Amino acid sequence: MDEYQEANRRKWNELAEVNYGSAASDYNVQSFIESPDGLDGLHRTEREELGSVDGLDVLHLQCHFGKDTIRLKRAGARSATGLDFSPVAIRLARELATATGTEVTFVEGNLYDAPDLIRSSFDLVYITWGTICWLPDIEGWARVVSRFLKPGGRLYFLDQHPVILSFDDLAPAPHAPVYDYFHKPEPISFDGTEAYADESAVLKTKRSYEWTHPVGEVVTALVDAGLAIEYLHEFDTIAWKALAFMEPCEGGLYRLPEGLPRLPLSYSISARKPL
Ligand SMILES: C[S@@+](CC[C@H](N)C(=O)[O-])C[C@H]1O[C@@H](n2cnc3c(N)ncnc32)[C@H](O)[C@@H]1O
Repeated sequence: MDEYQEANRRKWNELAEVNYGSAASDYNVQSFIESPDGLDGLHRTEREELGSVDGLDVLHLQCHFGKDTIRLKRAGARSATGLDFSPVAIRLARELATATGTEVTFVEGNLYDAPDLIRSSFDLVYITWGTICWLPDIEGWARVVSRFLKPGGRLYFLDQHPVILSFDDLAPAPHAPVYDYFHKPEPISFDGTEAYADESAVLKTKRSYEWTHPVGEVVTALVDAGLAIEYLHEFDTIAWKALAFMEPCEGGLYRLPEGLPRLPLSYSISARKPL
């Protein structure tokens, strides 16, 4: 793992503790433990698009502490496996599985090492919200996804639209883009102490690194890895306050304030491995 991903892992170890433990966190772990939900607990976008997971073997990549992995299993998946490179996130994921009485498998490891760590193949690979910006190599990512799909299996991917990565996420008011839309091998470095799911939290680990992957490169990487694209949808909503001046809206989502031009804030891809 390179120095950038090592630094990100340190940040994610701290974020996992905050997201899991803070009473103010949007993840709301305590209420999930008291009454764990299934697909109805997802944000509106994936709730409307995902469809039934009944009887499917599901792989959740970059699963964080596994709340959605557990939801997929509770919604009827035959098996659910989550992978994340943060040892803290994986420890908490196992704790959450025990607390909710859900039988799921969690694997600690870098996404690029996943084929050496998980031998099975899956009907559904599920990847959502805040994922590929942490990955340097989008072609390698697409090959990993494809490797895990059974013939006829499906990728469901939903994440922030790279257009919003062009903006300064902490600027209090609308402004011109400050970062390139297009991918560069060198990541953009950030030194924030804020936590995306808890406005009251102050992190000790400041440094993190992100890479931009234009939509065209993501789609092309999936096609080159042998998948057939079923759809690509763009949305004017996103699951967290990605820019400081965004406003909450229905479905547990955020959007730009009324009166601003509507930009794509998130997008989804459904892609299938041919039979
Ligand atoms: C924003 S979280 C994903 C959140 C998840 N969708 C959820 O709602 O809980 C991003 C996750 O990616 C993981 N991650 C980042 N880079 C990774 C890598 N190279 N390999 C595996 N996991 C990685 C982090 O540890 C973190 O848990």
